[in-house]
Amino acid sequence: MTLEIKRPTIALMASGNGSNVENLLAYAQKNNITITLVITDNPTAFVIERCRKFAIPCEIVDYNKMTTKDFPTKKIAHEQTILKILKGHKIQWILLAGYMRILSDDFIKAFYDEGLKSNRIINIHPSLLPAFPGKDSLKMAFDANCSFSGVTIHFVDAGIDTGPIIMQRSYPRYKNDDFESFKTRGQKIEHEIYPIVLHSLIHNPKLLKEGIE
Ligand code: GAR
Repeated sequence: MTLEIKRPTIALMASGNGSNVENLLAYAQKNNITITLVITDNPTAFVIERCRKFAIPCEIVDYNKMTTKDFPTKKIAHEQTILKILKGHKIQWILLAGYMRILSDDFIKAFYDEGLKSNRIINIHPSLLPAFPGKDSLKMAFDANCSFSGVTIHFVDAGIDTGPIIMQRSYPRYKNDDFESFKTRGQKIEHEIYPIVLHSLIHNPKLLKEGIE
């Protein structure tokens, strides 16, 4: 008799470059973790190319192709299309990795976990929240000229980057930094800490709420 360990089913969602997706896929591959699929809203996103390397399905749900034929708004059409795909794959957890759309309350509620008392959707954000939520936060953090910035990984709730924080890590902003050197330092931190969260999600999701570190 083989003992089968039931692991949560996971999808990643991304809109652009996909360095976090690639990093998570590489971590998953090395650690025998299955990422079922990646979803992107952007048909020209480089993340699609990165998925090919790992032979992971990447579903493109192009926002611009959505119509209001069957749904009241394009946003609802888009989210319902994504939800259908996720449900088809019985996805339990979503890790957002540079996904640049705000998810509606209804979408988020579809991933509510009664036991955990939380949504099973996680986001990575390039600032030390609550500082610089929303769009262009990395640029705002850079322009603020503070001596440090950071990365936040948090549960997604109905607000903009307001959900409960899972993990934060700060890094210095040096006086002679340009935006690129600052960004590279931040992304290195992102690539270090998102896999820690993925590991915890697989082995003990309660820790995500109680504190990993
Ligand atoms: C990352 O820096 C991530 O923190 C940020 O987008 C970047 C995606 O990079 N996310 C947000 O700004 C979400 N509001 P990547 O495509 O190379 O992973």
